[in-house]
Amino acid sequence: MTLSLPATRVAVTDIPHLDTPDPFVRRLPTEPDNIPRIELPSGHTAICLSGYADVRALMFDDTASRALCNVDGGPSFMPTNWAPEVLINLDAPVHGVMRRFVSHEFSARAMAEWVPIVQGLTLAACAEFEHADAPDLVRDVFTLVPAQTVCTLLGVPLERARWMNGLGRIVQRADRDDIDGIGEAWGQLWGWVEALIAGEAEHNDTGLISIYKRRRAEREYATDVDAGLLAGTLMGVILGGDNNVATMLSKTTYAALAHPQLYRRVTAAPEREVPKLVEEILRLMPLGTPGSFPRQLVNPLSTSFGELPAGRIVYPHINAANRDPAVFADPLAIDLDRPPNKHLQYGYGMHRCMGSALAQMALITVLRTVVSRYPSLALAAQPEEVPWDFGIGLRRPSELAVTL
Ligand code: HEM
Repeated sequence: MTLSLPATRVAVTDIPHLDTPDPFVRRLPTEPDNIPRIELPSGHTAICLSGYADVRALMFDDTASRALCNVDGGPSFMPTNWAPEVLINLDAPVHGVMRRFVSHEFSARAMAEWVPIVQGLTLAACAEFEHADAPDLVRDVFTLVPAQTVCTLLGVPLERARWMNGLGRIVQRADRDDIDGIGEAWGQLWGWVEALIAGEAEHNDTGLISIYKRRRAEREYATDVDAGLLAGTLMGVILGGDNNVATMLSKTTYAALAHPQLYRRVTAAPEREVPKLVEEILRLMPLGTPGSFPRQLVNPLSTSFGELPAGRIVYPHINAANRDPAVFADPLAIDLDRPPNKHLQYGYGMHRCMGSALAQMALITVLRTVVSRYPSLALAAQPEEVPWDFGIGLRRPSELAVTL
């Protein structure tokens, strides 16, 4: 049986706060070459690729450099740089070594094993949530379960979850007027990761911390993977595994509750409909305002605007590519009947999201559990009144007060 779309078509732009503005300061006046240029918040000029094929071409170029951008005064959306050792800032060949080092544990097959654990964590969080005086899905479930999942994955005490989530939120919100706060939060997380690697902070013998420490001693990695690279990679797991998932859980549920026909449709068949809802909101929603990071071309890149020369800063505008009308019919519609598609919200090519299988597993598992348990869930306030975090790397409802 196929359920039809709700009678009223809903577009991402119809739901208060949901849609994401362009992340750049402004589009620059067109030059004779017709290549679209933007001003980044860092003041740099970048070429902005928005078409699906162009964005894929850039992300597939494994010579385009992130390391050349992640320097003091470099082109960026963020007010501060992240460490050069995090995966997104590494170039080939070191990047490839680190992806190989971590990939096995993040495969879809490995992640399938985690469904019962995430289900259990969600049910435990729900038991608290439904007895709260003012139940709040973001506070009680969506910012807790992904953080607890990461703790379990790493093999660190669950008591770290709230602390880790709060610091990650500061780093990813990246407020321009809180540079000191970002540095402080980053420093606390990085210091903890260093202590874990050094065996000076509590972790068990079976989680990723122990697995990666043992792997680092193997001959294949012993010379290449130093403690800094391992710390940078673990920071990616901590920041992405926790707050990225929390962000998409919050936005997806908010969208469905703000347009109750969507929520009703999903509750009618959670097993089948939740993955469709997740996929469609993902297509339309980056995590923050930018959905990806700028690159500097090291080799010329062939695009629909002709060949872009080496040295140019180029931004792959994923959110625009995912609404390219040449690829996605009626692109702004939240359409659960959209045919399966290859949206780019997890990126593409060498930097494609390392945690996409973890994210998919967690999003689908948590939402199936919540939707099945609360078929009458509704927002406690009008959608316009729901408060949001409008951060650079984290844009989501900051609270989701609901009635059961
Ligand atoms: C729904 C949630 C998520 C979304 C939408 C998302 C999106 C993305 C995107 C677009 C990129 C590539 C950025 C670029 O090329 O400029 C990326 C990279 C990355 N993501 Fe995710 N992510 C999510 C969840 C996660 C999770 C759960 C983890 C935990 C491991 C994670 C860790 C990473 C890391 C480490 C990278 C860098 C990969 C590399 O450079 O090789 N992300 N993510």
